[in-house]
Amino acid sequence: MKFFIDTANLDEIRQASSMGILDGVTTNPSLLGREIQRTGKDSREILKEICQLVDGPVSAEILSLKADKMITEARDLAKIHDNITIKVPMVKDGILVVKTLRDEGIHTNVTLVFSVSQALLAAKAGATFVSPFIGRLDDISHVGMDLVEEILAVYENYAFETEVLVASIRHPLHVAEAALIGADVATIPFSVIEKLAHHPLTDVGIEKFQADWDKAKK
Ligand code: E4P
Repeated sequence: MKFFIDTANLDEIRQASSMGILDGVTTNPSLLGREIQRTGKDSREILKEICQLVDGPVSAEILSLKADKMITEARDLAKIHDNITIKVPMVKDGILVVKTLRDEGIHTNVTLVFSVSQALLAAKAGATFVSPFIGRLDDISHVGMDLVEEILAVYENYAFETEVLVASIRHPLHVAEAALIGADVATIPFSVIEKLAHHPLTDVGIEKFQADWDKAKK
């Protein structure tokens, strides 16, 4: 399973990257906006730096909603770095955009996906990734992980190559469940990456081993 970090915060990306387990990055307009405000840098500068920090797909989202404008915006973002993946919002015009970009060799991530039919359209158009937002479904009392499972089943039925990227992850259990059902990628906030390593029994165990070792050495 690939691990992407879901942030535009350069400090967080630097720290996670130094752990050696990062395969890519996802940003969105909210996350990039926060980093622009924090650093005073512009979005292209931030995306370029992210691409220098992580050698893998870096999702950058387009904001237009009409096909011609979406394509212009996407081509412009793709010029920043070879690893830029265009995040295309799941709207009707987005499907043609994904197909056009695929024909040009530009990778795409269809975002804000909340149903199997949306995921099916994205795969038919040749999206590189599809992003079901599981936390936002959980928030409205739908089990987000059920959607991931259904998309995986449909993609397997037809041998689609589109990778299922589990997004809107809120806690370590989301990551574990996504791995258990075979999702291709999890995009994880930095705070959740930090939590993945922790277990209270590990801490208790380390303390006990150290205390026993100290006693033996006296
Ligand atoms: C995915 O690519 C999105 O950036 C992200 O996972 C959205 O998460 P949120 O629902 O916590 O905002």
